[in-house]
Amino acid sequence: MTEKIQFFLPGPSYVTEAARQAMTKPMVGHRSAPFKNFYLSISERLPKVLRTAGDGIIASGSSTLIMESAVISCVASDVLNLVNGAFSDRWHGISKSVGRSADKIDFPWGQAVDPDVVRSALKRKKYDAVTVVHNETSTGVMSPLADVAKAIREESDALILVDTVSSLGGAPVESDAWDLDVVLAGTQKALALPPGLTVFTLSDRAAERAAKVQHRGFYTDLLRYRDKHREGGNITTPAIPLVYALDVQLDAMLAEGMEARWARHEALQKRTAAWAAGRGIEYASAPDARSLTVSCFKPPAGVDPQTIVKKLAERGWTIGGGYGDWKPSTFRIGHMGEVRMSDLDALLVEIDQILDDIKK
Ligand SMILES: Cc1ncc(COP(=O)(O)O)c(C=O)c1O
Repeated sequence: MTEKIQFFLPGPSYVTEAARQAMTKPMVGHRSAPFKNFYLSISERLPKVLRTAGDGIIASGSSTLIMESAVISCVASDVLNLVNGAFSDRWHGISKSVGRSADKIDFPWGQAVDPDVVRSALKRKKYDAVTVVHNETSTGVMSPLADVAKAIREESDALILVDTVSSLGGAPVESDAWDLDVVLAGTQKALALPPGLTVFTLSDRAAERAAKVQHRGFYTDLLRYRDKHREGGNITTPAIPLVYALDVQLDAMLAEGMEARWARHEALQKRTAAWAAGRGIEYASAPDARSLTVSCFKPPAGVDPQTIVKKLAERGWTIGGGYGDWKPSTFRIGHMGEVRMSDLDALLVEIDQILDDIKK
């Protein structure tokens, strides 16, 4: 890719010219044969990104739609929400808002979910499902998803509902190998597409349980999504331009290779960490929990993180400020999606100059 990226938000992330161009193609009837064939060709490729032999389903709507739908469809009564930041807390809020009996385990912001703590909680009480956010975008923390899933599976028959919104496409996510039940991700993060679509898997186990849950709604019924998907389409009129972009971006991702993509993100994370160590900038997240796709930092003493964000914007560069409770005290660099090492190097030079100017 020859495009230079100056956009490092932890979502939405930079969208390539090719993906943007794809969205300008003419409309087609979403129940027409050509669209059905096109949709089926996407259905063949998407599972390779989600690492499943099952379905890779597309929903028109942002990630929160499928977070809510997963609870409505898969939880008859009791759910355990693992909370270590703003988005995992959102899942707890959603669970309560749809009338489920929701318990939460609070891990400190900046820390990963601890599988042993989850194990102990599951010994005490039976749940229909456990929700976990793989990568807390609010704090730049990546939890050990494979270990958390193993703990849940060994201690209970709870379904494992996973938000991989800011990790899918940028870090290993193994839906089948880790035996996950629902794996969902909005497309605007490491998949490097515009916001508006969510992709997800639904295990057979989850589908069987969902079939027994009453009142799954229409727009929130994951079984309805799955059945329509298998026919070669969506439950309602899909966001067709976004599906065109997904088509192009799927080819780009699979041409790069998922393992190569994860390795690129890991190299970006390591470069960011080395830069921070060199400048004496502290991470806000724990050392054993750092995300491969977003780094969350405390600014140098006496510097307002918003000043760094603002001065970068004046120079034409975008990074993220803090989020939620950490809004006033942190800044975040999203090194995800199509970002290359040369882009990151150039960004870090800009931040160095800004910090040196502030120090003068
Ligand atoms: C980890 C995580 N989960 C959920 C969401 C919510 O996503 P959306 O705004 O696509 O509904 C976000 C958004 O940033 C996120 O980072």
